[in-house]
Amino acid sequence: MDDYIVEMRHVTKRFPGIVANDDISLGIKKGEIFALLGENGAGKSTLMSILFGMYEPDEGEVYIRGKKVETFSPNHATELNIGMVHQHFKLVSNYTITENIILGMEPRRRIAGIFPAVDVKSADKKVAELSKKFGLEVDPTQKIEDLNVSMQQRVEILKMLYREAEILIFDEPTAVLTPQEIEFLLEIIREMRRKGKTIILITHKLEEIKKVADRCAILCRGRLVGMCDVATTSTKEMAARMVGREVSFELGKEPAKFGAPVLNVDHLSVKNDDGFTVVSDVSFSVRAGEIFAIAGVAGNGQVEIADAVAGLAPVSSGTVTLAGKDITRSSVRARAEQGLAYIPEDRQARGLILDFTLSENLMLKRYYQEPYCVKNVLHRDEFDKKSRELIERFDIRSGQGEQTVVRSMSGGNQQKAIVAREIELDAPCIIFVQPTRGLDIGAIEHIHEQILAERSRGKAILLISLELDEIMNLADTIGVIYNGQLLKTAPADTLTTNEVGQFMMGVKE
Ligand SMILES: Nc1ncnc2c1ncn2[C@@H]1O[C@H](COP(=O)(O)OP(=O)(O)OP(=O)(O)O)[C@@H](O)[C@H]1O
Ligand SMILES: [Mg+2]
Repeated sequence: MDDYIVEMRHVTKRFPGIVANDDISLGIKKGEIFALLGENGAGKSTLMSILFGMYEPDEGEVYIRGKKVETFSPNHATELNIGMVHQHFKLVSNYTITENIILGMEPRRRIAGIFPAVDVKSADKKVAELSKKFGLEVDPTQKIEDLNVSMQQRVEILKMLYREAEILIFDEPTAVLTPQEIEFLLEIIREMRRKGKTIILITHKLEEIKKVADRCAILCRGRLVGMCDVATTSTKEMAARMVGREVSFELGKEPAKFGAPVLNVDHLSVKNDDGFTVVSDVSFSVRAGEIFAIAGVAGNGQVEIADAVAGLAPVSSGTVTLAGKDITRSSVRARAEQGLAYIPEDRQARGLILDFTLSENLMLKRYYQEPYCVKNVLHRDEFDKKSRELIERFDIRSGQGEQTVVRSMSGGNQQKAIVAREIELDAPCIIFVQPTRGLDIGAIEHIHEQILAERSRGKAILLISLELDEIMNLADTIGVIYNGQLLKTAPADTLTTNEVGQFMMGVKE
């Protein structure tokens, strides 16, 4: 077994109420791209956090280059040339790119031979060299808070490379990227392999595994249930092994029954913080029983439309009407009470309170209503009862059920919790922004079924997604946004995927 650069033997890790990793043994070869596949909560992030020294296994051993790891800490992992890009980035937002990259290992120099100081110049130079070598261009003096997610990810990657990582762990790196950015990242990963690095890739997207990985390990509820050679295994087989059943990929969509318009957006314009117009004169309406989907490349204004409708971004001109009432200037809570549910894009910042329990999070929009609150007294047992019902219906997996602190939940299960809470509001109008980001294929199927069920119940649904497949499968009407404007609005069955793709690139008829 000497040719393994990483070896795990009988690794077990328990958290309160759950065995996150259950007797896992596997080996990773130097210079390979090793994929890790598994349902939400299967234990992927936990297993890789052990390798990166963030957790110590309760049982079992880890060997790096044949040598047993005795100390589990990220610092020690760094010394062993292991790096990790986490599912949720860990950058300091008011620091510059270089400052983030060198954090904790700042090159030192002495002013006048006496006073210690950080040698920013030489750090900037090394960062610039690395970005050139791997094609990851950045401006080292920019601050993190001014960067979009794809650039932040570049910084995380450079941070690993700066620390001379040879074993690089990527935890769902593509979940936050656009299709173009994904292609670019996969190419970077291939380039790293050519340079002899070992890569571990966690992803829910089977095509990505098929494209770049050599081998794939499949986890299911904490256990290793399969190890396959990617070249000789079909994506269908991988999916079936992971979920433990056939995944249909086909949705039963009932014929549309449209009612009256519920949401009307008229001549809407929105400016960003810098006063730049990001949504320009957009008009559309969503009827009861209709899924209106906005397709577009990320950053073309689609999220700003959702934010403006939900009351999270100010409208600079135009009106938003919900069930006949002008809500253009209403507060967020007033809109919710008027009948608007919202599944936001950034689940950690806007969708959840991470240090609250799952039950509290599920009741965030309801706690002040009966029967959860009677005469100003909160009834926690009612919270918990309702929460258990939602956990069951949406298959939200965690260690301690409704009492689990949300921060400890897996990324995908956090997302399921938001979707559950918002659908449960039973609002006539629901906005879904990237509802299935970070979800495993079984969970995606489930959420799609729930969205269609809401449509059948006569809800007006505004869907914003970067996944063209998702839009083509669900939408009744598609509006394609480009550069802040709706270039094309048409019934979904009159458009092909190809045509929508063209409009997304700004091609006009
Ligand atoms: N720090 C923690 N405290 C308590 N429970 C935890 C902690 N970290 C993870 N868990 C639990 O361990 C299980 C495995 O979580 P993990 O994050 O490894 O899943 P995952 O496979 O990465 O899922 P996803 O695809 O959703 O990211 C989950 O049930 C989660 O709730
Ligand atoms: Mg994870």
